[in-house]
Amino acid sequence: MADILADADFELYRKLIYDESGIHFSATNRSILESRLRERLRDKKLDSLRGYYELLLKDKEELKVLLDSVTTNLTRFFRNQAHFDALERYVIPELAKIRGPSADRKLRFWSAGCSTGEEPYTVAMLFAETLPAGWTPEIVASDISLKSLMVAKEGFYADSRIQGIPDDYLARHFEKVPGGYQIKDQVKRTVRFDYHNLKNDSGLRNVDVVMCRNVLIYFDEAAQKATIERFWDAMAPQSFLFIGHSESLFGMNTRFEFVKTEWACFYRKNT
Ligand SMILES: C[S@@+](CC[C@H](N)C(=O)[O-])C[C@H]1O[C@@H](n2cnc3c(N)ncnc32)[C@H](O)[C@@H]1O
Repeated sequence: MADILADADFELYRKLIYDESGIHFSATNRSILESRLRERLRDKKLDSLRGYYELLLKDKEELKVLLDSVTTNLTRFFRNQAHFDALERYVIPELAKIRGPSADRKLRFWSAGCSTGEEPYTVAMLFAETLPAGWTPEIVASDISLKSLMVAKEGFYADSRIQGIPDDYLARHFEKVPGGYQIKDQVKRTVRFDYHNLKNDSGLRNVDVVMCRNVLIYFDEAAQKATIERFWDAMAPQSFLFIGHSESLFGMNTRFEFVKTEWACFYRKNT
């Protein structure tokens, strides 16, 4: 592969990746795309970018591998604690009030862009500790990165990755194993991991809480707006949406209502 990605190739690949995933490569992160493509060509023993492009058009599995390789999967347990405080102190009591005593007592939660599982497992532990008696959590966690989903499903985290978990949660919800910690089955059972591309309809409906944090930053505005619209369709009347603290729906003209609480800001589908 030539040292530098020619402009025409950059455009070709950036369009393909955007069309397939919403992930937008700007000129400033062109070198990241370059290095990922270099790795893929090496792996496939190919020496031409055009040849690899032809392969991607035919081979959907390889396309998944490329998309996986251009994702950023950085995450951690209890990332942005304020969101979990708001979930526990505002959203859960509010849902209990809205759904009422005779309502279906399932709490449907979707971690969209769950990476290696720290976010949905944080929620699963929080639900295990704080859901009112009689409520059953149903947590769906999805991502476009197959490699991340494999780690998530395994539920093993090296010692260096468990910072942020309160000691009592760690003691109750993890097993100490050589080199790290294994999430206990009773927590794991409450999370269903799925491969899902946010470009498509998830098929989920009546979700009470969607958490999609630090994912939309990789999309351009059109892809962000389309994703937010799909969340709307997946969500129940009177439900809640959390996005990353550096992300915003400001100026996007969505139907969500902005909610500011003493813990954190998020959005409500107020219908
Ligand atoms: C930086 S991680 C955020 C993980 C977690 N939500 C958090 O805030 O810690 C972003 C995740 O979004 C996923 N992602 C990016 N584009 C996606 C798409 N089109 N569909 C589904 N997941 C996507 C990436 O694979 C990655 O795991």
